[in-house]
Amino acid sequence: QRHLLGIEALRPDEITTLLDLADKYVTLNRSRNKRSGILSGLTQVNMFFENSTRTQASFELAGKRLGADVMSMAMAASSIKKGETLVDTALTLNAMHPDLLVVRHPNSGAVDLLSQKVNCAVINAGDGRHEHPTQALLDALTIRRAKGRLHRLTVAICGDIAHSRVARSNLLLLHKMENRVRLIGPPTLMPAGIEAFGVEVYHDMAEGLRDADVVMMLRLQKERMDGGFIPSEREYFYRYGLDAEKLALARDDAIVMHPGPMNRGVEIDGTIADDINRSVIQEQVEMGVAVRMAAMDLLSRNLRARPTEVMA
Ligand code: CP
Repeated sequence: QRHLLGIEALRPDEITTLLDLADKYVTLNRSRNKRSGILSGLTQVNMFFENSTRTQASFELAGKRLGADVMSMAMAASSIKKGETLVDTALTLNAMHPDLLVVRHPNSGAVDLLSQKVNCAVINAGDGRHEHPTQALLDALTIRRAKGRLHRLTVAICGDIAHSRVARSNLLLLHKMENRVRLIGPPTLMPAGIEAFGVEVYHDMAEGLRDADVVMMLRLQKERMDGGFIPSEREYFYRYGLDAEKLALARDDAIVMHPGPMNRGVEIDGTIADDINRSVIQEQVEMGVAVRMAAMDLLSRNLRARPTEVMA
């Protein structure tokens, strides 16, 4: 692949190759010398048009550990604020010959559009409610390490499915890898026709969580609700928030996941989030750096294989 724009375009064997490589980067990241020169001489530019803690920090660390020259654009201070379009901004940066562009944008499809205008490899760091491929890959690595496999598991994804690019990328990946995916949430936060993706839909946590191996919680994404119905947080926690009573319905060894940022007391009880026997939330963050290193390593191999005139 030239770009990493979504899980939709990846084959199961490509996912496995990336996760196998990421496993090696987990080992490197836990060692004293975390450096590799694999991206030496390459330039990585991070363009985040939406707030981020985990994704932006981990892409920056990943690039630096692989030896790239990394520049994180402060988009709030860029000429976007003076009316420059996304495409003109991208073309301007493209003229400086970056090798990797990491882009987060609030509009679905914006990163795909940008990838068609530039010569370098583009990684989607989250576009609107469309896809967040590296999040799904880091979630997959976390599950595979915790459960010893990434197939024939029952995974419950709970909460605001309608506005979530994390849910979309995860359900695509988990379905490709032959897992049983259950989506649980209120009807108002469930996209119509989502069953066509091969998932089961539940509106009751008691039914959807039963015997789940993995429980993945999502926050209410109010920033994407466009003035639509926003449930009361108290009512939402009562019906859909993960607490000990609801978690007891899942398998005894079920793991609890959350992509962050987390709203304690809204979609998850803080004691569950902090329970190191059940919660793998901090492992997810750790896997994020390794998965992003693996993704950039694999894309850079394609870059080096291309003749220079194609990149000119
Ligand atoms: N999970 C995730 O994308 O977190 P950030 O918004 O902090 O990057």
